[in-house]
Amino acid sequence: MTLAATAISVQPQSGWTGAEISGVDLTAPLNEEQVAEIRAAMLRWKVVFFRDQFIGHDDHLRFARAFGAPTPAHPLFDAIPDPNYSTIYPIFRDRFKARFRGSGFDKPNWHADVTAAVNPPAASILRAEVIPPYGGDTQWANTVAAYEGLSAPLRRLADGLRAVHRFSPPDGATATDDYRRRIQDRPLLTEHPVVRVHPETGEKALYVNPGFTTHIVGISPHESRRLLGLFYDELARPEYTVRFKWEAGSIAFWDNRATVHLAPSDLTLDHDRRLYRVTLVGDVPVGPDGRASIALDGEPFEAAS
Ligand SMILES: [Fe+2]
Repeated sequence: MTLAATAISVQPQSGWTGAEISGVDLTAPLNEEQVAEIRAAMLRWKVVFFRDQFIGHDDHLRFARAFGAPTPAHPLFDAIPDPNYSTIYPIFRDRFKARFRGSGFDKPNWHADVTAAVNPPAASILRAEVIPPYGGDTQWANTVAAYEGLSAPLRRLADGLRAVHRFSPPDGATATDDYRRRIQDRPLLTEHPVVRVHPETGEKALYVNPGFTTHIVGISPHESRRLLGLFYDELARPEYTVRFKWEAGSIAFWDNRATVHLAPSDLTLDHDRRLYRVTLVGDVPVGPDGRASIALDGEPFEAAS
């Protein structure tokens, strides 16, 4: 193995979140050292970015498999993906037009992917193929930093709380009938700890998000709204975020256990936008008290067969 083969450079993109990785060519298999360095950077910076990786589905999947087992493309939308690539979830501008009537885009919420499942994906790997000339940046926030930014009494309070996460159409969305039917047919509802102990780093992360969390268990609706609002404010503090400007050939690989992200809301239908996502199977979250998440409805999100 030559030195050049492992000359990975990791360039942080903000104080807390995001690093750009260069010195790898994802058209070729990664060696063990490269996988270890990329994993370490991802765990440290929560999301890592690659540029100018003009790869196809097969290279994308080989990269993903170096870090875990791909899930089916989506727990609800099994009819959409390419049947030859059941683990690749396309994110196309036109898909959103089909899913929601009207303007086509809803106000997106900060979220981690599929946290309504009892074992949400450990990581997501999103690859850009066609990107509009402007608009469409994605933002991530470091949920470990958000937890650590809370005062000690609030951290202690959060440590003992549990919250319900549900897959449902976004607020105010005029979801199509087909979309509603899919959600009704395959409900996903889970009780998670509000603070998750990361299975690899041992760090505590704030584990609620406005995309999927409905309420905190065992307190009044008023208290739940106020507390969640406070936690969400903390998640979205600008210093914990990074904003990524996509180009064709860009890849973002994020730790779905230690980040939330925000889909863009400044897209127009004038420009095409095509990305592909692979998610990796995750384990069942565990809180600081050792209690695991509990599936209230729906099946675990396991590896694709
Ligand atoms: Fe997402």
